[in-house]
Amino acid sequence: APPHGDKSAEVKEEAAAAVSSVDNRPISTILFIVAMQTEALPLVKKFQLTEDLNSVFPKGVPWVRFYGVDGVGTVSASLVTYASVQALKPDLIINAGTAGGFGAKGASIGDVFISSEVAFHDRRIPIPVFDIYGVGSRKAFATPNLLKELNLKVGKLSTGDSLDMSPMDEASIIANDATIKDMEGAAVAYVADLLKVPAIFLKAVTDVVDGDKPTPEEFLENLVAVTAALDQTATQVVDYISGKCLVEL
Ligand code: ADE
Repeated sequence: APPHGDKSAEVKEEAAAAVSSVDNRPISTILFIVAMQTEALPLVKKFQLTEDLNSVFPKGVPWVRFYGVDGVGTVSASLVTYASVQALKPDLIINAGTAGGFGAKGASIGDVFISSEVAFHDRRIPIPVFDIYGVGSRKAFATPNLLKELNLKVGKLSTGDSLDMSPMDEASIIANDATIKDMEGAAVAYVADLLKVPAIFLKAVTDVVDGDKPTPEEFLENLVAVTAALDQTATQVVDYISGKCLVEL
């Protein structure tokens, strides 16, 4: 059980404020948002998920099919997050996937990060107020006790719609103070914020962005092994969450 000192009470109060009217009942529904089938497969297997044949989604969209479908990037991430939250009313969203990591900021291949904050790095609108809107920085739901228990690395996540990194993206990623970059996180955070569902971000590092290997090769080389690590962490996270309330995370 988490400690009950002053500090933890403080943290709990903050967390309680963040989830507003959401309560002290145990978390019963967790929505995993995963972009690629290779990333999702270990989780599907681990949690013995089966395909929902009476899909809650509109006819023709591929979303609840676990196999043969990838939906990479912010457009599909936001759509599927929106549709899933509307249909399933989850207590918590976990966006689990892979990311590029910055070696200079302490990321190595196979590390699994939990993101403290997420933002976009490819929405440049250099007009006052719109600039901030474009960056779209949001805090992840705080999980101090989960962090303590699982000993995960913590870092800021920056999201854009490309696997590569243009010089302008790089400047924005540095401005975002990010340790990892992905293609969905900030979009999931945007929708989660709109719909007032707490969200956390588990990201496993497949490639070192500031290393010498070309990103696509390094990504593909490590994808299967790293998603296995992601699966292990996701399992630990779900085991930790099991039976707890949001404010206890
Ligand atoms: N997912 C895995 N590696 C990535 C990278 N380098 N950039 C964006 N998304 C990624």
